[in-house]
Amino acid sequence: MRFFSTVLIALAIIAAVSAYDFNAKILNDRFIQSHNAKGASWVAGRNARFESATIGDVVSLLGTKKPRNTPEGPAVVADIPAAFDARTNWPGCIHAVLNQGQCGSCWAFGASESLSDRFCIASKGAINVTLSPQALVSCDTVLNQGCNGGIPQAAWEYMEAKGLPTYDCFPYTSGANGTEPPCQKTCSDGSTYTLYKAKTLTLQTMNSVSAIQANLVAYGSIEGSMDVYDDFMTYTSGVYVQSPTAKYLGGHAIKIIGWGHDDASNLDYWIVQNSWGTDWGMDGFFWIERGVNMCGIDRDSSAAQANV
Ligand SMILES: *[C@@H]1O[C@H](CO)[C@@H](O)[C@H](O)[C@H]1NC(C)=O
Ligand SMILES: *[C@@H]1O[C@H](CO)[C@@H](O)[C@H](O)[C@H]1NC(C)=O
Repeated sequence: MRFFSTVLIALAIIAAVSAYDFNAKILNDRFIQSHNAKGASWVAGRNARFESATIGDVVSLLGTKKPRNTPEGPAVVADIPAAFDARTNWPGCIHAVLNQGQCGSCWAFGASESLSDRFCIASKGAINVTLSPQALVSCDTVLNQGCNGGIPQAAWEYMEAKGLPTYDCFPYTSGANGTEPPCQKTCSDGSTYTLYKAKTLTLQTMNSVSAIQANLVAYGSIEGSMDVYDDFMTYTSGVYVQSPTAKYLGGHAIKIIGWGHDDASNLDYWIVQNSWGTDWGMDGFFWIERGVNMCGIDRDSSAAQANV
């Protein structure tokens, strides 16, 4: 009896794993052509970012430990505009698209990028710094595991307790080979080691569309989290909706910066900044359907205020 159940469990594991060929290339022309022939709400293509990547390479990038199917949280009553874009609302405060390289550090990029924007917004442009994702990857080791992944809320707690230096002070090098340099307490560029913190007791996890929107309008960019399916690497424009046949690959963190409505597809969307460089999506940005918890994006967003 015990022998048979062991065999059955082993067979189930083999079946689950062999559903993926980790050495197969992630960009698949057959999928791209059939998807585009359907006239869907988004256009698929060969993003240069993933030209030579395998499915295994992509899985190792998806370093956010995200709860799947988080229940919807309470709605927030606030004055929420029909469309909003942080780039036009706070010009010059939404910092450039970065590239996490070959490292599962999206959890650190979503957090450091969001806090960078929030410092600029809260200080009306006076504190305009890009903070160091490397400091989270190398120094925040309590619940987080560098290139092997992390939890957005734990990154915010680290930014509240310790703070981050600037990107130029502790530049990002983990992208080259997915290893973490030691935590650095002086600046590489010789500047003064200054730490920028999140304000204590302001961290919120937002589990509804209106909670995310109200916080974004009040304080700026938010670290969102989402499930990634194997069609997402081919996204080039439009409102992303997971294709029914796409396979789940892992959890990802990104930066939500606004929302709108697309007349062509008649879908509501979020405006999101990714950390895969500018050779992916719409120069590094994407739109994803809003209001239906697409890939879990309407839940489990997090951010705290900047301690200006
Ligand atoms: C912040 O710095 C960036 C890069 O130097 C610049 O492009 C942007 O305009 C600055 N933003 C503000 C609000 O001054
Ligand atoms: C990874 O890259 C860093 C910095 O370029 C280097 O110091 C380190 O030896 C490399 N590690 C591996 C395992 O290749």
